[in-house]
Amino acid sequence: MQKRAGIVIAIDGVSGSGKSTLAKGLAARLGFVYLDTGAMYRAVTWKVLTDGIGVHDESRVVAAARRLSLTVAPGDAGMKVFVDGADVSEEIRRPYVSDNVSVVAAYGGVRERMVGLQREIAADHNIVLEGRDVGTVVFPNADLKFFIDASVDERAKRRLAELQAKGIATSLEDVRKNIEERDRIDSGRQVSPLRKAPDALAIDSTGMTIDEKTDKALAIARERLRL
Ligand code: DC
Repeated sequence: MQKRAGIVIAIDGVSGSGKSTLAKGLAARLGFVYLDTGAMYRAVTWKVLTDGIGVHDESRVVAAARRLSLTVAPGDAGMKVFVDGADVSEEIRRPYVSDNVSVVAAYGGVRERMVGLQREIAADHNIVLEGRDVGTVVFPNADLKFFIDASVDERAKRRLAELQAKGIATSLEDVRKNIEERDRIDSGRQVSPLRKAPDALAIDSTGMTIDEKTDKALAIARERLRL
């Protein structure tokens, strides 16, 4: 394992568990870089769909992921994502991307490229990364790991409110189905399935406010990492 200069906090968890908000808040309070790894899988998916490549055509999807020009930068809403220099941060949140991203993220070749990029981006920084495999595969030696869960009902309501706030029309039933389907694919895939690392601290965020979650994780981080 490569020697690292910075501190790594890895946050994994199910779709819509509020881990993005938590990871963003924690990074801001600690003055760490924030990396949303799910946004990177979304960017590949957006590019594939935009280029008219079928998401089930694994070899073409993997080839597109390998040649993708993907960069990230800090933004007001957390992290901005650029593909070929164009800002796709909002587009990658749209339902047509959400509905296809689990298929793309299940390909080993796509994951290999993304994990490589994530390690490059993280090099020499104090960083909070969030995703599905950041504590198990990307940084198995992370300094601190969290695993965030929440009930499907609460996650669906939260995601619906987020989409509505962005003016994206959808229903609670559709959001719920998308979350359940993504859980099924993310946890059941062969390559890097979503699972809690044995040394990750589990937080069930059902019924907790954003501030309660962030305060809890921050207190743990300060104590464990002596920050
Ligand atoms: O966190 P999110 O909903 O933006 O993630 C989008 C998709 O990418 C989701 O289907 C899970 C997948 N993903 C992954 O496989 N590995 C990661 N490290 C992050 C996300």
